[in-house]
Amino acid sequence: MNIDFAVPCLLGLEAPIAEELRDMGASDVRAENGRVLFSGDEHILARANICSRYSERIQVLIGSFEAHTFEDLFQGTKKLPWEIWIGREDKFPVKGYSLNSDLFSVSDCQSIIKKAVVERLKAVHKVQWFKETGALYQIQFSIMKNKVSLLIDTSGAGLHKRGYRTRANAAPIKETLAAALCYFAKLKDFHTLYDPMCGSGTILTEGTMLVKNIAPGLNRSFTAENWKQIPKEIWIGERERAKNGEKHDISFRAYGSDTDALALKTAKDNAERAGLSDYITFSCRDAVDFSPETDRGTVIVNPPYGERLMNETEASELYRKLGGVFTSKRGWSYYIITADEDFEKKFGRKADKRRKLYNGMIKCQLYMYFKNGD
Ligand SMILES: C[S@@+](CC[C@H](N)C(=O)[O-])C[C@H]1O[C@@H](n2cnc3c(N)ncnc32)[C@H](O)[C@@H]1O
Repeated sequence: MNIDFAVPCLLGLEAPIAEELRDMGASDVRAENGRVLFSGDEHILARANICSRYSERIQVLIGSFEAHTFEDLFQGTKKLPWEIWIGREDKFPVKGYSLNSDLFSVSDCQSIIKKAVVERLKAVHKVQWFKETGALYQIQFSIMKNKVSLLIDTSGAGLHKRGYRTRANAAPIKETLAAALCYFAKLKDFHTLYDPMCGSGTILTEGTMLVKNIAPGLNRSFTAENWKQIPKEIWIGERERAKNGEKHDISFRAYGSDTDALALKTAKDNAERAGLSDYITFSCRDAVDFSPETDRGTVIVNPPYGERLMNETEASELYRKLGGVFTSKRGWSYYIITADEDFEKKFGRKADKRRKLYNGMIKCQLYMYFKNGD
């Protein structure tokens, strides 16, 4: 079956997602602001859930249309082929959001969409009442500038939930963003990665998973595993395929440190749960005393922004000191994500390149300092 998909993502991660989806064999991949659209079959549905490192979730795109009135919304929804997915026993709750549109009441949109889907399914399935005791088909809607997109979620819990991070420190970076930082840093399986303010160790764990080509969703389940349209063998086959793609015997090593002993304990536990303790070494250290174990390395770090963990003066002082230890020298590159717009001034050097990213709702930049000669 040819299926249209939509992937919502953190702003700034559209390009890595488009690339990973193409590599997975998805077709017609198109990046938009905050989401990526693509097509594929049932295998791609399972593969994207198991293997996507940067997406928030994988949704089946049922259809899109323009709506200015509740009648437009009702008729547009009713026209779509919901019966391809939703059977007479299945659950189909509705949730979503509306932005910059004539239809702004989310709860009204929610009930109108539900009513329209029920009307459609009543006629097709020849029933008057839906018990909704079967598999979950979570309907999601987005209305932006009067354009309605209707989707069914295939993932369940967000794809950033890999399963290894059961605890985190005060300001953890989202797993999808941490993985993307490693992508932007072009981290390879022969590199050495450092995160000298590692908190719960997300960047180190995601970096190691990336270079080892470990599929992030290998050890979790997805809503669509209960769908009759996607046979169990497909999920088994896709998990096997992902497992076979893992790299072993690599020289990659990662080093994490932090001044918070409790955060380090969490980081160690998380790395162990991900099965990666052999690759990552942790120590309790101040980042301003950064003295690496190797003569080449890639530093990827998410320091406090002067919002949640430190006040602004303390953060500024920290950035100034980091500029003194993250020196421009052969074999070293530095990637620092922060919301502080004056970062370069405080750090003391202009970045070779900057990239706008969002850490949740916080607008950040990734300041990239390449290796000498790159
Ligand atoms: C934004 S958090 C990092 C979160 C981390 N990326 C994660 O996913 O959990 C910043 C971390 O910097 C640590 N930190 C603050 N000042 C430090 C310093 N001078 N040296 C080392 N670590 C420091 C804090 O303890 C905190 O864990």
